[in-house]
Amino acid sequence: MLVGDTPAGYGLVSRLFHWLMALAIVAMFGLGLWMVDLDYYSPYYHSAPDLHKSVGILLLIALALRFGWRLANVRPDDTDLSTFERTAARITHWGFYPLLLALMVSGYLISTADGRPIEVFGWFSVPSPGENKGLEDVAGTVHTILAYLVILLATVHAGAALKHHIVDRKRTLTRMWSGPSET
Ligand code: HEM
Ligand code: HEM
Repeated sequence: MLVGDTPAGYGLVSRLFHWLMALAIVAMFGLGLWMVDLDYYSPYYHSAPDLHKSVGILLLIALALRFGWRLANVRPDDTDLSTFERTAARITHWGFYPLLLALMVSGYLISTADGRPIEVFGWFSVPSPGENKGLEDVAGTVHTILAYLVILLATVHAGAALKHHIVDRKRTLTRMWSGPSET
């Protein structure tokens, strides 16, 4: 079982990061949309945002680790793609990192604008940069827009992956799911 990436495909660490984070990001989108409509008497009024913030901070840490891992590893070979496909794939893949970072930072800014820290599952707390009431609304708008952009990009990205798999019958999806073939 390959741990690191090779020119032939993604190793275990990259694949775990990819699929666990993809699942968590899509779930966070649903949770975010649902929780902002909860009324004060809902039993989830506090717990849903607490969960959203805690998972969000863990995702921020995961993003940093994943980025470091990406830089430390060779990039799987993409020379079988056309110039257009390769450029589009690289823009999409690299585009995810700053977009996700900005999404997470804006979430952090909404949550800490009242001066209170974020308690991550009661394990540790992330301090607030200081009270800044006006920031909450701006960061909230930015956060919503970025969340939709990430989901839009992920939809295009997943569509391209499925097209390579089903129409072009390439190993693109297979080498991200089960890794490169051992032969
Ligand atoms: C993968 C990362 C994330 C995704 C996909 C995501 C998605 C969303 C979505 C869709 C909403 C609802 C927006 C609306 O309709 O008004 C939302 C709200 C919110 N998110 Fe996130 N979020 C993420 C990360 C974070 C992080 C890291 C934090 C904080 C540490 C955070 C804090 C919040 C807060 C406080 C709200 C409520 C905003 C309001 O009341 O308008 N989010 N998020
Ligand atoms: C929010 C969801 C997603 C995000 C943020 C995301 C992000 C990424 C990123 C950044 C890469 C480049 C490799 C890396 O840096 O780790 C990548 C590769 C890949 N993703 Fe996703 N992805 C998501 C969802 C999906 C879905 C739903 C599918 C399939 C249906 C998919 C299929 C692939 C494939 C096949 C590759 C490898 C492409 C290649 O080898 O050139 N991804 N993804």
